[in-house]
Amino acid sequence: MNPYERYVLPKMIDIACSTGNVMKARSKIVPQALGKLLEIGIGSGLNLQFYDANKVSSIIGVDPAAQMQSLARERAADIGIPVEVIAVDVKGIHADTDQFDTIVMTFTLCSIDDPVAALREMARVLKPSGRLLFCEHGLAPDSSVERWQHRLTPFWKPIAGGCHLDRDIPALIRESGFVIDELSEAYLPGPRPMSYVYSGVAQQLA
Ligand SMILES: C[S@@+](CC[C@H](N)C(=O)[O-])C[C@H]1O[C@@H](n2cnc3c(N)ncnc32)[C@H](O)[C@@H]1O
Repeated sequence: MNPYERYVLPKMIDIACSTGNVMKARSKIVPQALGKLLEIGIGSGLNLQFYDANKVSSIIGVDPAAQMQSLARERAADIGIPVEVIAVDVKGIHADTDQFDTIVMTFTLCSIDDPVAALREMARVLKPSGRLLFCEHGLAPDSSVERWQHRLTPFWKPIAGGCHLDRDIPALIRESGFVIDELSEAYLPGPRPMSYVYSGVAQQLA
């Protein structure tokens, strides 16, 4: 890992992911979490403040980027819920099937190398009654913005932690064994190629 990825990128991601509009988008979906929870790509722990200690019993946060974890642990310290942060991807926790009541994934699917494999693993470890809560930026519906997303992604990805601007988030979720029960989508304020956000709730296909 080069110095940019180790020292600069984590701070930049934390700042970009904690703007007012992004935090507002999180606040609409994350508080729906309950029970035994797995957060995919916990990063610097920006969702932790939105979990309700009366509803969430425990949190495992996975993220292969170990350099983000000290911030996540600091943010976990006083939320009143046991939090374990582990430097692996979802497969790395070797969880049994049907383990979790809720999986939370925010602004992460853009950066996962093999999103369908990761989502299929999430479907496996989620209880049949469990819910995937997601809030992800991705492919915009306007063809002019979409064209820019395709053009920019090869340049954006190496400087932004592997982030793809042009992933069709609902299609990936559906393709991976989930049915989407609730979905809202809109541009957040900001550059349009980076700011079309899909937010919702999915369950495993019966
Ligand atoms: C833009 S950051 C978002 C962090 C956090 N989810 C948030 O909402 O602030 C993307 C995160 O995805 C993580 N990531 C990349 N590949 C991953 C994988 N295979 N499994 C889990 N997380 C991954 C990165 O390390 C990074 O922390």
